[in-house]
Amino acid sequence: MYFHFLCDDMGYDLLAGLFKRAAIDEMMHVEKLAQRILFLKGEVKMKVGGNVQQIKDVSKMSELTSKMEQESAQEYNVWANVCAANADSATKQIFEDLVAEEERHYDQYDTEHDNLKKFGTRYLALLSIERSKNLSATGRPVE
Ligand SMILES: [Fe+2]
Ligand SMILES: [Fe+2]
Repeated sequence: MYFHFLCDDMGYDLLAGLFKRAAIDEMMHVEKLAQRILFLKGEVKMKVGGNVQQIKDVSKMSELTSKMEQESAQEYNVWANVCAANADSATKQIFEDLVAEEERHYDQYDTEHDNLKKFGTRYLALLSIERSKNLSATGRPVE
C-alpha cells in the first residue's frame, strides 16, 4: 500500500494500480489462511511481518516486490508439500492457489521492472502522460 500511495502521488497510475490491487490480494490471502486455521481449530496470531521499506525509487520498488513475490511462491510451494505429506488436500489446494497468484504478481512486477530497466525515465514520462490524458478525458485518474 505504501508503494501504491507513493506511485499515485508521483502520477504513475499504472504502477499505483498494480501495487493497490496486489495489496488487496495479499489481504485476501491473509483472510483465506485465517479462515482455514480457524476451521482446523487453530489460533490466528496477527503479527507485524516487518517494517515498511521506505523506497522512493520505482525501479527499486518493482525489484523488491518481484523478489518478495518469488519468495512467497517458494514458501507456499513448500507448505503445499507439507500439506500433501499430512494428507490435507484442502489446505494444499489453498497454498497451490496462492502460489499461482504470487507468480502472477511476480510476473507483473517483473514486467514493470524490465520496462523501467529498458526505458528508464522515458517509461515514467509515458505513465505521467497517460495520467494527464485520463484526467483531461474523465476529470479523474484511473483507479
Ligand atoms: Fe500473498
Ligand atoms: Fe503477492
